[in-house]
Amino acid sequence: MAEEDQRLRCISPLRPTWQFDPEHVWTATTVDQTEVEDDVQGIYDIFQDSIAAESDGDTIPEQLKIRKRHLESFLMKGLTRLSGSYSCLDASRPWLCFWILHSLELLGVTIPSELQTQVPEFLAKCQSETGGFAGGPQQIAHLAPTYAAISALCIIGSDEAYKVINRETLYQFLLRMHQSDGSFIMHEGGEVDIRGCYLAANVARLTNIMTTELFDSTPQWIARCQTYEGGFGGVPGMEAHGGYAFCGIAALTLLGHEKLCDMDSLLRWTVNRQMKLEGGFQGRTNKLVDSCYSFWQSAIIPVISSLPEFQSQKWMFHNGALQEYVLLCCQHHNGGFIDKPGKSRDYYHTCYALSGLSISQNFTGSSSTKPFLVGPSDNQLVPVHPIYNLCIHSAVKASEYFQKLSPVTQGST
Ligand code: FPP
Ligand code: ZN
Repeated sequence: MAEEDQRLRCISPLRPTWQFDPEHVWTATTVDQTEVEDDVQGIYDIFQDSIAAESDGDTIPEQLKIRKRHLESFLMKGLTRLSGSYSCLDASRPWLCFWILHSLELLGVTIPSELQTQVPEFLAKCQSETGGFAGGPQQIAHLAPTYAAISALCIIGSDEAYKVINRETLYQFLLRMHQSDGSFIMHEGGEVDIRGCYLAANVARLTNIMTTELFDSTPQWIARCQTYEGGFGGVPGMEAHGGYAFCGIAALTLLGHEKLCDMDSLLRWTVNRQMKLEGGFQGRTNKLVDSCYSFWQSAIIPVISSLPEFQSQKWMFHNGALQEYVLLCCQHHNGGFIDKPGKSRDYYHTCYALSGLSISQNFTGSSSTKPFLVGPSDNQLVPVHPIYNLCIHSAVKASEYFQKLSPVTQGST
């Protein structure tokens, strides 16, 4: 994208033509879309009026700043004390560790030393004797908290944290989740979906326990999840969705089989999920913008762009528009991020809004390594790895640590 296009989009006179046209057909979908656009347009109009009223055109508007002080205290509170309203996440406690620690590492905040010890101690209690991690102590191992716990431990990045992971039993757990058609179940007796393939490939690659046996037929199963639209569904035959599309392309890349999917149609589908008026991404066709897709969808773009045959391809993602949506429409006044105006803040949306912001700042489609920032220089986030969704330095450090350990042997018991 040309440098001159990378200005604040909401001051463009073209804005009204970006509205969705329901063509006089009022359904739940068209009503919802129109209401969200009205809310977002209202926010952009207020912002536009406030910058027009600024006497000094050089001052960076307050609304564009990441509210770091509030955000940090929201995040730190979540690591130490949560209110009763979080009891529904009692089976997702490693996720809370990951969402919060990853948000802090993106912001460049050093984790206090007592938490650097307490978090691995807690996660060790979630590890099952038969391999993998559960959503909490005494629960059963599940691929999702396994990924979240290992990612959180890699963010802590100390030898003590890495040593919590029992690679031998982890390998056995992953083998038990692997199905003969190549798919993965999420837990013993649990459902199959494409998340399982990504979660297993991610932790196996990071901890250096990947074998051909473990991923037998998996690339082929993943490729079957790509739909006629170009994105990936949860299982073959299901609707394309950003969360699953990310899992599909990230897993194929981790497994070295990205050529099995139709990359042109995946790229076309992904870039078309960026909403014209809102600037953020939707998860699927005819659905609403949501800040979490700032990561799930936008991370697909640098993954595709890094492929040799796509390096000369035009950059089709509007980095500035995404940053405007996240900064102006999704910041909670007390810190943290929300899905869309009117929603409440939570750690999941905070993590993925920040991850998407980091993607859009640090992957610009240009050969220059200069980040593209909306707002003050203090908004700059630590660059994120688009496949692992860890800060690049954490992913590299963990890979180097586990590369030094011996690989598990194929079929080891
Ligand atoms: C639809 O929710 C959401 C899904 C069908 C699945 C989402 C999957 C992910 C976010 C990926 C998870 C990935 C990992 C690595 C665990 P909805 O109908 O409430 O939302 P929508 O209207 O935006 O589609
Ligand atoms: Zn969301």
